[in-house]
Amino acid sequence: MNRIVFLAVTGMLVWACSEKTPGSTQPDGQAIFEKYCVLCHGKDGALGLNGAGDLTKSTLTVEEKVTRITRGKGMMTPYEGILTPEEIRAVALYTQQLKQP
Ligand code: HEC
Repeated sequence: MNRIVFLAVTGMLVWACSEKTPGSTQPDGQAIFEKYCVLCHGKDGALGLNGAGDLTKSTLTVEEKVTRITRGKGMMTPYEGILTPEEIRAVALYTQQLKQP
């Protein structure tokens, strides 16, 4: 049941982001990525410094990315306490756009 609510919220967030509502208070995923993530992942997500996962080829879901970004893994810093949960979600959603078909 919780899972369903979670998915619904995620769906609404994706929708809200793609709508690009003017004056929206959503955190800017791209700005966060450029500030915190390009160091290891590169602007296009494919840099892969220090064994960083190639984000253009990532098969993780948004939820899995949120967990990865929150908790970190290996060389990757946990962003819990650095970014708010909203910011983590925004940047996770942004990395979805880096994916190459
Ligand atoms: C200090 C370098 C570093 C920084 C900064 C960093 N990462 Fe990572 N990231 C890594 C490494 C290393 C891995 C691979 C971890 C592993 O699987 O062992 C990784 C993996 C990931 C993955 C999983 C990719 C996959 O499919 O396996 C995601 C998503 C990710 N990072 C997102 C981010 C985001 C978003 C940020 C900014 C908030 C960020 N990273 C900042 C080093 C970094």
